[in-house]
Amino acid sequence: MANKFKIDWSGRAFRYTEEEVAAVVDAMKNADPLTQGKYLQKFEADFAAYNSTPNSFAVANCTNALDLSAMLCGLKKGDEVIIPAHTFCATAIPFARAGATILWADIDPATRVISAESVKSLLTKKTKVIVVVHLYGLMADMDAIMKLAQKNGCLVVEDCAQAIGAEYHGKKAGSIGDFGTFSFHCQKSLTTLGEGGMLAVRSGELAKKVPGLRHNGVRPFDYDRKDYWSPAMSNVDTDLDGIWPYNFCINEVQCALGSAVIKRLDQMNAFRIKRAGLFMDSVKGFPELSFQAVSPHHKHVYHLLSAKYDGKITGKNRDEFISIMAYEYGVKAIVQYYPLYRYPLFKKMGFGAANCPRTDDFFDNMVSFPFHHWMDENDFKYMIDSTVSTLKRLRK
Ligand SMILES: Cc1ncc(COP(=O)(O)O)c(C=O)c1O
Repeated sequence: MANKFKIDWSGRAFRYTEEEVAAVVDAMKNADPLTQGKYLQKFEADFAAYNSTPNSFAVANCTNALDLSAMLCGLKKGDEVIIPAHTFCATAIPFARAGATILWADIDPATRVISAESVKSLLTKKTKVIVVVHLYGLMADMDAIMKLAQKNGCLVVEDCAQAIGAEYHGKKAGSIGDFGTFSFHCQKSLTTLGEGGMLAVRSGELAKKVPGLRHNGVRPFDYDRKDYWSPAMSNVDTDLDGIWPYNFCINEVQCALGSAVIKRLDQMNAFRIKRAGLFMDSVKGFPELSFQAVSPHHKHVYHLLSAKYDGKITGKNRDEFISIMAYEYGVKAIVQYYPLYRYPLFKKMGFGAANCPRTDDFFDNMVSFPFHHWMDENDFKYMIDSTVSTLKRLRK
């Protein structure tokens, strides 16, 4: 039954409403210009209000937002950046590209996101940045990490690609550190036609540089001009304090859609939280399948539904679990986030060493269930029943 799944791993997180489709058509027909115009301004304002991050800048994807944050951190060769190895590769590539030395942090075994204890063990005088990843929709222990950063004089980047709407002590992901980066890729909880991203910048001074850095140094002249054409339409300032700019722009149609979808983001997140609760309740008699621990101070938005299958309890292993789910019940569960130090690219670039036993243990035993918002109610029930049956079979 290869490649024939009753419940596949979807390439899109949710379906658009008619109102959202109409917003796209309106921008297609009426936007002028088609990039860097009024829809961009509105999307940034809507996002800033939603997320309590006043300096929010929309870009073409989250990798661009991470690249901008790496540039604005002012990294020099030899500066150290602490990054969890249990994440998607795009978290780390921008910092490596900026010339930093990457030190891999381990995860907390209960929450499965970056552990403050591990960050502490890696801090040195050369540490310039701590990159925190709120993976699967759960925020890391930001109080402890911010305290370490302040004590050590480092900047904090929150990679919120998977955590839009997540909260920690009532604060939104991306509103605590120096930078917050967001993804609107097609599998994310808010997608702007498959690609898109946002960068939140705490410092007002650094924020001033972002429009130029994301758009080839193009910005309006900042002085009154007698004639609008003189000396030229806009100022191209490629000398943004010695940083070469990029073109990281998102288009107007995507921004119009972003403004439409953000209105129902909380509603979609509430639905995911309810479903995740139902799933976890249905398998709570099976301690071999455990989920991320969530404290009362956290709002986990379950961008993904990940778990650990503990083979020590049953004498079976994760691969046997996935195999029965896939080949006997047609549910395509997957394995996610190959530890970055195991990647050939990072090894070749000199970042193959790590001491992350908890990352290894989780990765080697993890399973991620299909969890797209548009999954049909019957299919969702079927996935729960299949999971329970698989767990029972593995106990025999
Ligand atoms: C944790 C994390 N960081 C960064 C990214 C990169 O996002 P984008 O595809 O928008 O560049 C992703 C996307 O998959 C991600 O999951």
